[in-house]
Amino acid sequence: MLVFTNKNKIDGHVSSLKNKGFKVGFVPTMGALHEGHLSLVEEGLSFNNFLVVSIFVNPTQFDNAEDLEKYPRTLDKDVNLLKTVSKDIIVYAPSVEDVYEGQTKAQHFSFDGLEFEMEGRFRKGHFDGVGTIVKRLFEIVKPDNAYFGEKDFQQLTIIKKLVQKHNIPVKITGCKIHRETSGLAMSSRNTRLQPDYKNAAPFIYKTLKEAKQKFGTKSANKVTEWVTKQFAKHNLLELEYFIIADVKTLKTVKRKSKTKTYRAFIAVYAGDIRLIDNIALN
Ligand code: PAJ
Repeated sequence: MLVFTNKNKIDGHVSSLKNKGFKVGFVPTMGALHEGHLSLVEEGLSFNNFLVVSIFVNPTQFDNAEDLEKYPRTLDKDVNLLKTVSKDIIVYAPSVEDVYEGQTKAQHFSFDGLEFEMEGRFRKGHFDGVGTIVKRLFEIVKPDNAYFGEKDFQQLTIIKKLVQKHNIPVKITGCKIHRETSGLAMSSRNTRLQPDYKNAAPFIYKTLKEAKQKFGTKSANKVTEWVTKQFAKHNLLELEYFIIADVKTLKTVKRKSKTKTYRAFIAVYAGDIRLIDNIALN
């Protein structure tokens, strides 16, 4: 399996594959790979001849220096794991310098308001950082198809907007959330959960499923109040937000409409680890 650390080299390699008529897929990651990432990899491999997986902890999307510093970095393990999946995977694991060329700064983007909701409200500048790195990676890798998880549904929606607004010739596919048997959405951050918090965390998805059921008969406000109460009673998990939003605009729903599609989004602190999850409601 080829592992590139230099943008010009991977660019040259992928270009030669595309010139031979091969389809190239792309899964951008920050590493510490788990089965959630692998579900994107499998999806990418089944629709492309080759699949590039990038492993890069992007500094410009972190609003919290400690979170960036403590983010797990397990490159050798990640590469070995990908080797067991397919020989058609190409890894791009650059340094900050290779990607940012001495200018480790985010570009400013407008995503037509999508960036101001939820994660954008609680993690200032986050989506400028995500937009900057994903656009840069698309320019380097030039994939035909790219795969993003619904785990980060707002990110997926914003990437679709990025591609559309900047006329980037790549097809974006969203992939389902992969969960542990407990229901907890898989995340690289789960490895940092202390046992008590790890045991408590499945409460997040359990509550989301109950909220979905209640949304069948109750208003969005009533469901939100109910969820807020459940977390107020919980002594280990602290709710940052629970929002029911329109999937297109990501704006909080005020009055339910039969013609619209909604999703519930949640962010919770388990000690100092921030976890996010979401669920389709209708
Ligand atoms: P990271 O958190 O490593 O996630 C990489 C991709 O895997 C994202 O598209 C994410 O939504 C997906 N993913 C993570 N956990 C998942 C799960 N449990 N089920 C399904 N998909 C899952 O998201 C990022 O990195 C970064 O923001 C990135 C896009 C790489 C830009 O730096």
